[in-house]
Amino acid sequence: MKYLTLITTIEIILSCNYICYALGNHNDGCEHIFKSGEQDMKFEPKDRRVDRSIQEEQAVFEVIDLRSDTVTRPSKEMRGAIASAVVGDDGYGEDPSVNQLESEVANLFGKQAAVFMPSGTMANQAAILAQTSPGDILLAVKDAHIVTRERESTEKLSRVQIVELGHDGLFTESDLELFLQDTDSHNQKPSLIVIENTHNFAGGIVFPFEYIEQISASARKHHIKLHLDGARLFNAAVATGISVAQWARHFDTVMFCLSKGLGAPVGSMVVGDKETIDHIRKFRTLLGGRMRQAGILAAAGLVALRTNVQKLSIDHSNAERLAHGLIALGYQVQPFPKTNIVNFTIQETYSLSFVENLRKHGVLVKLYNTNQIRAVTHLDINEAQINRVLEIIKTAKYL
Ligand SMILES: Cc1ncc(COP(=O)(O)O)c(C=O)c1O
Repeated sequence: MKYLTLITTIEIILSCNYICYALGNHNDGCEHIFKSGEQDMKFEPKDRRVDRSIQEEQAVFEVIDLRSDTVTRPSKEMRGAIASAVVGDDGYGEDPSVNQLESEVANLFGKQAAVFMPSGTMANQAAILAQTSPGDILLAVKDAHIVTRERESTEKLSRVQIVELGHDGLFTESDLELFLQDTDSHNQKPSLIVIENTHNFAGGIVFPFEYIEQISASARKHHIKLHLDGARLFNAAVATGISVAQWARHFDTVMFCLSKGLGAPVGSMVVGDKETIDHIRKFRTLLGGRMRQAGILAAAGLVALRTNVQKLSIDHSNAERLAHGLIALGYQVQPFPKTNIVNFTIQETYSLSFVENLRKHGVLVKLYNTNQIRAVTHLDINEAQINRVLEIIKTAKYL
């Protein structure tokens, strides 16, 4: 009888494992069962998880989620800061935690002012609204997020005409000058240039600093404003040793996300001169982004900024480790990662089954362009997990 009960328990555990993966949904009920039955199947980032109690509660069968660096969960320290945050009504400018975050960020970036925004998309859109007029040309680096993911927002809200420049996430001052010569004859100058650094869809590449210096000199000469979509600017700063203030000096406005590699649950910021930031605040209200006791989010943002910037270098070395491993297995990794994004190629016929097979083994990646896989390292990923992913890919033998 005892044996029968044991066998039945094992069967339940195994079938729940199967059902969870078949549904792609690791819900609480399943996780609790894994807690008692599948200890050998957890792959936890031991070096960086300080808040084991929370994580134990949340995810015992650990999924290795490489879809994006947005998937991180707030640390124990962040949750503590959220719980004890001093708050007020930010709509009246009276939230002490938001005010503290905005002032720290403005200082860090060497700009007059900063504004806390609910998302990177809203932050970009408000910055574009504040620095363009309907009918203007907006020049953006090829495949920028504002082109690939925000085109409709940008075109509908700001009613600008978007023109893409360059390739592989970059353009040069000569690309800009050539474009300006051409448009000059039609009396149509761009009013805003948007650069993305690091560039999400170009494999997290860092825009070379000297290109930025030259482009910004040229933009100023032609009275064109420059906005930086720096959702992952801290990755660029850590990878190059060039501070965010040095990058920011060449831009009128800079947006960055607290909710990506820095590990905060919500929030992005825009920095710039006081007049422009006031203008952006008005557009934030217009877009419905004025928040109230947002200090609970700002408190997490402050922890992210004060504790997580240097940890980005671990993400970069994990990305490098993954890339080396993939190359050793015969995959084409393009470009070789300098930050936390690894793009690799898979034969088109196998691409869907490759993603599905990894998912069944508890590894999540993203498929794009039919034969490109994107894997992003972040705060909740450690070296052992990268080794595990490589082991799974090796066994699957898809090329
Ligand atoms: C480069 C870049 N800019 C902007 C965004 C938008 O940020 P959010 O998801 O907070 O709207 C993203 C999101 O992935 C991004 O990668």
